[in-house]
Amino acid sequence: MPPKKVRIASQDLPVWFHPTAPLGSAVRYVAGLSARFNWVGIYVLRGKFLELGPYLGAPSEHTRIPVGRGVCGTAVAENADQNVADVRERENYLACSLETRSELVVLIRDRQGEILGQIDIDSHTPGAFGPSEEEQVRKVAQELGELWPE
Ligand code: SME
Repeated sequence: MPPKKVRIASQDLPVWFHPTAPLGSAVRYVAGLSARFNWVGIYVLRGKFLELGPYLGAPSEHTRIPVGRGVCGTAVAENADQNVADVRERENYLACSLETRSELVVLIRDRQGEILGQIDIDSHTPGAFGPSEEEQVRKVAQELGELWPE
């Protein structure tokens, strides 16, 4: 097993973390967790909008999503992660790719619990996100929230 943490300047950092590209390094790591993760991106919460930061996958037209809209905006409005096994069941779903069948949105919070943004994952496979996927992505979201650069 590789080490879970590396020690740099007396601070424990997750192995995926790259100090000059914190968000991008998280996206790359999450994208590598499963072949079913076909699109992985981070939206940053700025005021009443989610703005798309680094991502891997096909370009999305949804680069600025109002809080309350789509699966992503709903996560912020309801202050709750969203695990959508079949995106066709969501009336307010914003299509990024016609191939997308399931979606996981995990909120990134600071140590006080304030929402900083979210990790958004799309899969071409229905129901791609089970408890172990949720757990893995939540771990990264928590680590990123603690190391948030802004
Ligand atoms: N499906 C999201 C929009 C973002 S794309 O998936 C990249 C939503 O409904 O909010």
